[in-house]
Amino acid sequence: MLSVAVLISGRGSNLLSLLKSARSYQVSAVLSDREDAAGLTYAKQFDVPVYTFPRAQYQSRSAQKLAIYSALDQLNPGLVALAGFMQIVEAEYVHRMFGRIINIHPSLLPAFPGLDTHRRALGAKVSCHGCSVHFVDSGIDTGPIIAQARCGVTTSDSEEVLEARVLALEHALYPWVVESFARGDFTLTGRNIRWSNAAQAEATQRGFLLAAGERP
Ligand code: GRF
Repeated sequence: MLSVAVLISGRGSNLLSLLKSARSYQVSAVLSDREDAAGLTYAKQFDVPVYTFPRAQYQSRSAQKLAIYSALDQLNPGLVALAGFMQIVEAEYVHRMFGRIINIHPSLLPAFPGLDTHRRALGAKVSCHGCSVHFVDSGIDTGPIIAQARCGVTTSDSEEVLEARVLALEHALYPWVVESFARGDFTLTGRNIRWSNAAQAEATQRGFLLAAGERP
């Protein structure tokens, strides 16, 4: 069974979807840089060990980060899943763990990396928006894209409406990608991803787009 450590900083709705959908994987630990992250209650509900690293307990941000990464090293999960974790992961840790850290991002990458994706998507008057799951590299939302889910955007959409629409997609896509990782349905070679035929068929049925990793 694949053990997954989930890192959160806030609400934790993606953590909840990962907890609820676990079949071929197990959420074995939840780590947070914030003691008051609302999502920690979900970990407790599901009896998953919680580790918090509040900034105030460390002399510097880098000491705080170091504590998080050494805890992860000790836990040694098969996969680290970032779910609304609001810190940039240290390049050294990313290099060491490349291929075993993934993130969910609320846009169709490579469009709108970084923050405020829904506001920016509305500002750009896009007609299609969505979310992406990608491997984490040392850039901001630049790692190989694994899979995406799309939705339409209308001129009357507010930021809140669009966020809710995309969040519903995130809750379907993220557990499916983690499940697929656990079942070995895709492999990463260099920065290229290869999906099994069976997973490709399932993705089509669910309306997900499978990416091949490297970006154009
Ligand atoms: C989600 O939109 C996720 O894509 C982004 O941060 C948000 C976290 O939401 N990285 P939640 O904490 O999972 O509810």
